Amino acid sequence: MQRKALVTGGAGFIGSHLVDRLLAAGEEVVVLDDLSSGRADNLPPQVRLVRGDVCDADLLGRLLAGVDCIFHLAARVSVQLCISDWMGAHRVNLGGTIAVLHAAHRAGNIPVVHASSAAIYGNRAGATCRETDLPLPISPYAADKLAAEHQAAAMAEVHGLPSVGLRFFNVYGPRQDAASPYAGVISKFCANRLADRPQVIFGDGQQSRDFICVADVVEGLLRARDLAGQAPGAQVFNLCTGTETTLLELVRQIDAIAGRGASAIEHAPARSGDIRASCGCPQAARDRLGFAAATDMRSGLDRLWDAL
Ligand code: NAD
Ligand code: UD1
Repeated sequence: MQRKALVTGGAGFIGSHLVDRLLAAGEEVVVLDDLSSGRADNLPPQVRLVRGDVCDADLLGRLLAGVDCIFHLAARVSVQLCISDWMGAHRVNLGGTIAVLHAAHRAGNIPVVHASSAAIYGNRAGATCRETDLPLPISPYAADKLAAEHQAAAMAEVHGLPSVGLRFFNVYGPRQDAASPYAGVISKFCANRLADRPQVIFGDGQQSRDFICVADVVEGLLRARDLAGQAPGAQVFNLCTGTETTLLELVRQIDAIAGRGASAIEHAPARSGDIRASCGCPQAARDRLGFAAATDMRSGLDRLWDAL
């Protein structure tokens, strides 16, 4: 029987890559997206795109007919925008997740795979983040992502809803919007390099991230679906590489690929809510999902640069 997935936030960066993979496997896909940061033209024409709000419980219920898994990716993803619109972001990031979990339960406990974030760990300079660590969110975005994990755990306990939360570390790849001032750093730095603009670094540039390629994240999402379909309860895994890169090193790597000499660098004040160091432990995902990131930073950046 043909599988059918609902992808919330499917017109966005990560969601649209997931949709491509599902379609390539011959599956039916419905996308729910309000197009607040996603774009209809990220999706091929055969996808059913429903423009609507992920907090709309009735709409969710109607879209679940025949669906065997929900991938819940819709969110306000910029830490800075979540700070400037705290309540609006909370409504979507926590309220939207509760709406999805609730609708999944009411439709017969459809497995849910939801996007959590490395941001829930807070500042762990010098330490690799493990799923068993105590989370210490330092932004409203991170607090809502952590609360969403707790909601999934409560829904599993009370109603037996199976789910897997994936704590994505910093995802990069084609289609990550570079135009917004709050865009992900790799898309911005590549766009700056292409236009020979200076790289603006918030802070000293020694902050680090565990950057993971979007193709690997999609693989992790599919493996999480398999696990959610087999195992009861609410589970949570890192999706990361286990390798840390500072922003200054990132600029050097992009410069090496672009082959146009060294970028000019300007420093601006560090952002509030910004994490200093972030690196994940990939072991639990390896053990339980059979997942290991296949793309190293250099080849991922090469591919991204070629796609620009
Ligand atoms: P994105 O902004 O490209 O995608 C988010 C999508 O959600 C967009 O298409 C947007 O239009 C949609 N959306 C927002 N509010 C909505 C609402 N109320 N109703 C319906 N749709 C709505 O961002 P992304 O990078 O693809 O992020 C996808 C998910 O992964 C998010 O949950 C994000 O928090 C999470 N995540 C991303 C990263 C990263 O590095 N990009 C890291 C950790 C976690
Ligand atoms: C990103 C994601 C967030 C996710 C988290 C997981 C985006 C927009 N945000 O947050 O959804 O949950 O990873 O770890 O994808 N920076 C600069 N100059 C710039 C842009 C950024 O110096 O022009 C710096 C930032 O201050 C930060 C680092 O680069 O220190 C990364 O920033 P950003 O790409 O916005 O991601 P996160 O805040 O880590």
